[in-house]
Amino acid sequence: GAVELGPYRHYMQKEIFEQPRAIADTLEGVEAITPTLFGEQAEAVFSQIDRVLILACGTSYYSGSTAKYWLESIAKIPTNVEIASEYRYRDSVPDARTLIVTISQSGETADTLAALKHARSLGMEHTLTICNVATSAMVRECKLAYVTRAGAEIGVASTKAFTTQLAGLFLLTLTLAKLRGQLSPEAEAEHLKDMRHLPAALQAVLALEPQVMAWAEAFARKDNALFLGRGLHYPIALEGALKLKEISYIHAEAYPAGELKHGPLALVTAEMPVVTVAPNDALLEKLKSNMQEVRARGGELYVCADGDTHIQAEPGIHVIRMPEHYGALSPILHVVPLQLLAYHTACARGTDVDKPRNLAKSVTVE
Ligand code: G6P
Repeated sequence: GAVELGPYRHYMQKEIFEQPRAIADTLEGVEAITPTLFGEQAEAVFSQIDRVLILACGTSYYSGSTAKYWLESIAKIPTNVEIASEYRYRDSVPDARTLIVTISQSGETADTLAALKHARSLGMEHTLTICNVATSAMVRECKLAYVTRAGAEIGVASTKAFTTQLAGLFLLTLTLAKLRGQLSPEAEAEHLKDMRHLPAALQAVLALEPQVMAWAEAFARKDNALFLGRGLHYPIALEGALKLKEISYIHAEAYPAGELKHGPLALVTAEMPVVTVAPNDALLEKLKSNMQEVRARGGELYVCADGDTHIQAEPGIHVIRMPEHYGALSPILHVVPLQLLAYHTACARGTDVDKPRNLAKSVTVE
């Protein structure tokens, strides 16, 4: 009801704005990187694994996809991510030394639970869940758990659950890195400091809302949109496209920017807005040349750019400047303007934001 919504128009907007609090709560009490964050048996379990398989659906699949980049680059542990409904029905090659990680807001998604059981039936007993509901089937079924503290999420389109999953997955990355001798005490201290600063950093990104609203005016009149990202931010582009299609019903797809030339460039016209996630990372120069490819075909760019990227607004290039560059944790910040873009575009189109047509908050039957 109106009381719980406070100053917000929809639960989704409220939940987007709760993210600083949700992340702070999720990381509360984390003083050092230690396996016990994941449960009593975690140290024993983590010593018996040498690869990771992440299973999830929807938005949770995209947090898992982001974590693959972290796990391989920081913890140096081979990682795969698979859509739960695919994994449960295909023939795969099991390896008992795999850590099965399920990710779920609700902890009740039928496909994810079935994928977990399938993995166990193949002899993979080392199971961990990153889940937002402590009393869920998923937490009961897994040996280890990290319970995120996003609080109840009501909007069907997941927002605060996603960013808190990322926080939990980053802790998992650091924990495995430390156990594998890949995390110096200096790096650990630096990462912990960055994590503690996340709520303030998120607050600064949320202050960009008026600029995103101006973009949403233009998006509300479009039929299609393309989202580009590279590396760690490719899953963020995917999540941005998912949010837009779920609640505004605009057809949106995401591509890793280097793949533009292998297909989607054929779709680019002045009618195709191209949202670009542009952190200041090692791929920036490559990304800039991908942006040129879009401009050369008349495509209009909407860029979320870190301050030090030197990407300037000009005709055909709209820029929202991110308040700070955030290294490995940057996806947690870069997803926020994309959540707001989907939200305000949906509002401008007058859709039922919190209950989009044909979708359910939690899919507990197949
Ligand atoms: C549904 C929801 C999505 C969610 C997905 C996975 O499709 O609409 O927002 O990402 O289920 O749900 P889970 O609870 O397992 O994260």
